[in-house]
Amino acid sequence: MEIIIQPDSQQGSQVAARIVARLVREKPHAVIGFATGNTPLRLYKNLVRMHREEALDFSHVTTFNLDEYVGVPAAHPSSFHSYMWAHLFSQLDIPNGQIHIPDGMTADIPATCRKYEEAIKSAGGIDVQILGIGTNGHLGFNEPTSSFASRTRIKTLTEQTRLDAAAAFGGQENVPSQVITMGLGTILDSRMCLLLAFGKKKARAIALTVEGSLTASVPSTVLQLHPRAVLVLDKDAASDLKMADYYTWVYDHKPDWQKS
Ligand code: PGA
Repeated sequence: MEIIIQPDSQQGSQVAARIVARLVREKPHAVIGFATGNTPLRLYKNLVRMHREEALDFSHVTTFNLDEYVGVPAAHPSSFHSYMWAHLFSQLDIPNGQIHIPDGMTADIPATCRKYEEAIKSAGGIDVQILGIGTNGHLGFNEPTSSFASRTRIKTLTEQTRLDAAAAFGGQENVPSQVITMGLGTILDSRMCLLLAFGKKKARAIALTVEGSLTASVPSTVLQLHPRAVLVLDKDAASDLKMADYYTWVYDHKPDWQKS
């Protein structure tokens, strides 16, 4: 794991944006896995700015989102479809046909999940998967005890996760119980995982992810098995890490060619 600790979320988001931009410049047909939530919002702002001001071209990029609520139409203001269009896709030049988000309204969930996996495969696999992290260590909507080998499927949310989403749906009782999410095995297959975590409330989950034992009870520990997992943190999210000084030293002393 590479741990990059930045003073705040603004600088962390800039580092993450540079990693994504470098990939897109080196590989215009890159496949990017996107996440929703509060955490990647600044990253997306940076990507939009780079597209406008630095001619960062997304027209050949293919995208796959991590997850979507079951029973929530794409046009619903709290769907992840709406989120992605509001914060990113409406401001970039990715053709609609290259954008993939699980269909939460499908009549056949297993078939939709199977096709999602097939679409990722036929696109050549995901080059970089952007990730947030839940306070319980979930990645996507892979809640604790999700199998490390899991693929795209239906999952039932924990009460904590529904509580976290309550504001977006005008109350916890309105938050759907079920979602379609890429599995931990799907995420593990991506060539790079780029996880962002900001704020004190993520500190415990981050400490368990980086320095804890591998366990399905903390799904994000699966990243210990990934050959290229990069975690971009602010100081607060890094505040429970025992080896924070070491990670900072490593990052500050990387050879230029290795820097992001
Ligand atoms: P957040 O959500 O970015 O809104 O904190 C992250 C997650 O639950 O995966």
